[in-house]
Amino acid sequence: MHNNRTTITQFIIEEQRQIKGATGDFTALLNDIVTACKVISNLVNKGALVGVLGSADTSNVQGETQKKLDIISNEVFIKSNEWAGHVAAMGSEEMDEVYQIPAQYPRGKYLLLFDPLDGSSNIDVNVSVGTIFSILRCPDGVENPVEKDFLQPGTKQICAGYALYGPSTMMVLTTGRGVNGFTLDQNIGEFILSHPNLRIAEETVEFAINMSNSRFWEPPVKRYIEECLAGKTGARGKDFNMRWIASMVAEVHRILARGGVFMYPLDSKSKDKGGRLRLLYEANPMSFIIEQAGGVSTTGRERIMDIQPSNLHQRVPVILGSKQEVERMIGYHREMG
Ligand code: F6P
Repeated sequence: MHNNRTTITQFIIEEQRQIKGATGDFTALLNDIVTACKVISNLVNKGALVGVLGSADTSNVQGETQKKLDIISNEVFIKSNEWAGHVAAMGSEEMDEVYQIPAQYPRGKYLLLFDPLDGSSNIDVNVSVGTIFSILRCPDGVENPVEKDFLQPGTKQICAGYALYGPSTMMVLTTGRGVNGFTLDQNIGEFILSHPNLRIAEETVEFAINMSNSRFWEPPVKRYIEECLAGKTGARGKDFNMRWIASMVAEVHRILARGGVFMYPLDSKSKDKGGRLRLLYEANPMSFIIEQAGGVSTTGRERIMDIQPSNLHQRVPVILGSKQEVERMIGYHREMG
């Protein structure tokens, strides 16, 4: 029975066979990403035993304090992906500038963007965290990619995925042909296809938002949440449930599993910066996954994957999840400005 389980490598190779002209480069790149995520999973899992918890006493380009594991995970991702000749350059939440592939290695045709450890405020309290990544094609003729080469709208992504380091470690992927989930079998060190063709329920009665920001929200968001909170006695005529893990990967994963809406909307606190979450290595890859699973992803005013990025660390408002609820939010933004 066990020998007919599909490993992630087998799955990717079989997908590649459907694509005319595929060389195997992409499959090899994904393999390296998978390896990086297994290494990070192992470190997250061992935690205090290997001395990786706590602050590194530095801050990233966003001005956020870096955890030791943020920096180590970034290093793991770079080392796993720089040597093989599939990547032309990388961009990461933890690095101000584009990372150039060292001269001793060949350069490939892909650009890799990642948030090596998302939700890292959760590390020290042993709550789920994750890695998010997005793969773009390096523009034709570009030998030394710079920031502008990464500034492609989300619709140009050729693959997006995340690893979730939770009670089990999972990898969820899309290459634009639906969304598939794999669970790490720790004993054999392989991700096994466990959640084929994930689809998001169109309806939901569950929302996720950081309620402590409510006084900063814009009117459409206030209205939506007030109506949810009013439950059966309010305009919606039904009771809602709320969750906030403060780990976008875990939040998106829950939505894939049982529906829901996740919001980090524009508010007066983050307005100057354009929002809270980052477009290129958080919002875009998650939007690709959500849309491929039948959900919707928007800023409230436009489809996230249509945004033309203006810089590597750009931030955007994010509202994503079950179709009917996100469309309702889009409607409230349209009505209320
Ligand atoms: O940096 C991104 C992130 O950690 C997300 O994973 C998460 O959804 C959000 O920030 C949590 O924000 P807050 O600390 O405001 O709850």
